[in-house]
This record gives sequence, C-alpha cells and structure tokens, in this order.
Amino acid sequence: MAKDVIVACDFDSAEKTFAFLDRFGDEKPFVKIGMELFYAEGPDMVRRIKARGHKIFLDLKLHDIPNTVKKAMAVLSRLDVDICNLHAAGTTAMMRAAVEGLTRPDGTRPLLIAVTQLTSTDEESMRRDLLIERPMAEVVAHYAATAKAAGLDGVVCSPLEAGAVHAACGRDFLTVTPGVRFADGDAGDQKRVTTPERARQLGSDYIVVGRPITAAADPAAAWRRCVREFITGGNQT
Ligand code: C5P
Repeated sequence: MAKDVIVACDFDSAEKTFAFLDRFGDEKPFVKIGMELFYAEGPDMVRRIKARGHKIFLDLKLHDIPNTVKKAMAVLSRLDVDICNLHAAGTTAMMRAAVEGLTRPDGTRPLLIAVTQLTSTDEESMRRDLLIERPMAEVVAHYAATAKAAGLDGVVCSPLEAGAVHAACGRDFLTVTPGVRFADGDAGDQKRVTTPERARQLGSDYIVVGRPITAAADPAAAWRRCVREFITGGNQT
C-alpha cells in the first residue's frame, strides 16, 4: 500500500493556489481540491493542476439522490482525477449509483471513497444533532462496511478510526484521514486529531493535511516534515 500525504489546497482563487504550489519548486505533492477552490474556479482548475504533474483528490463530498449522484460522477470521471468522494450517509443505493456513474466506458475509474463522519464531528454533536447514539468507532466502521459492500475503495475518517475500519473491511480498504496536526500546532475546528506519526502508527493510508501546511511560513518544509513523520515515523526536524 502506497502511503502519502495529501495537501488540502483550500484556497479561493487560482492565483493563490498557484502561488502556493510554486513554493514547492519541482516537488509535486498529492493535492486535494475541495469545494472552495472548485466552486471558485471550476473544473478547469482540476485540469490545470493535473497538467502541472500533481495527483489529485477531488473532495466534493457528493450527497444527493442516486440518479443525480450517478450523473454528476459521470461528468467528474472525465476530469481524470485520482480520487473522488461522497457521503456514506447517502446510503448504499447512492453509493452503488456513484460507482456506476464514475466508471468510464473502458471500465477504468478514479478511486472512490466515502466520508464516514466528518472529523469536525464528535460523539456529542453526533448524538445531539444526528440522533446517532452509538460510539464513533462503531458508526465509522459500519459506514465503512456499507461503502465496501457498495463497491467503494475506502473511506475518509479520523486516524483514530483507521484501525476499526481495517478490522471491519480488511487492510486493503483505504483509510484517508484528515484531522492531522503537528504535535506543536493548533487543532482549529478539528475535533478528532492526531499527529502524522500517530496516524502512521494507527494505520492510515493517506493523511490529508491543510492548514498545518497551507498556513506555514515555509509550506514545502512543513510538507516535507509531514511526509517524514508519516512515512518514516521520524519526528526530528
Ligand atoms: O486545514 P485542515 O488540515 O483541517 O484541512 C482538512 C481538510 O480535510 C479540509 O479540506 C476538510 O474539508 C477536509 N476533510 C475533513 N474531514 C473530513 C473530510 C474532509 O477535515 N471528514
């Protein structure tokens, strides 16, 4: 399993995004394009970043009726991204429709992963707002098993739940995990956080890191630190 660090390019313009990516020189981190950038600049932004040699996780978190998601995924499959996603809460029918829509006429498709519970959600907000009474790890593992049964390749979850997901769905089922912070950094609005090294120990396959890299004085150095801590477990600077 190839482990990697995915940099969340949460910017509101192409200009800011390219100014950020230029700071990496010839290095080409795996990047995540989310709602903010996609809604600001549209699909052409995906093509432009791809043309610069980056792998792309298109994080649009689709959640709608199955037919709408199927058609939207068919359009997204033409963008040649590496990973797309949706909300597992959309149910098995929606996830199956998404896989169908995403699959190209030649049978290939980007990896498709499901958001389980957002890493900004904790058990208290899940109980209070969503009326879900079960423990977080159980909820996440159940959503993951549903996603696997629907034909998906993995889930987005907290590193804290990566072990429960692998236990329920097997080692090859991908865990893509945001909510990562350096030991000496701010958590911000994330509630279920770990360090890159801890994420590695817990079995995450990919970590998604935004502000600890995008807001760093030297983003390329922060990214290298993250890669070093996540891939090799070293935390020396
Ligand atoms: O800045 P930060 O490291 O918190 O960024 C995390 C990124 O991962 C954001 O783009 C956020 O939308 C995304 N994400 C998340 N939790 C999920 C799914 C996606 O934080 N469950």
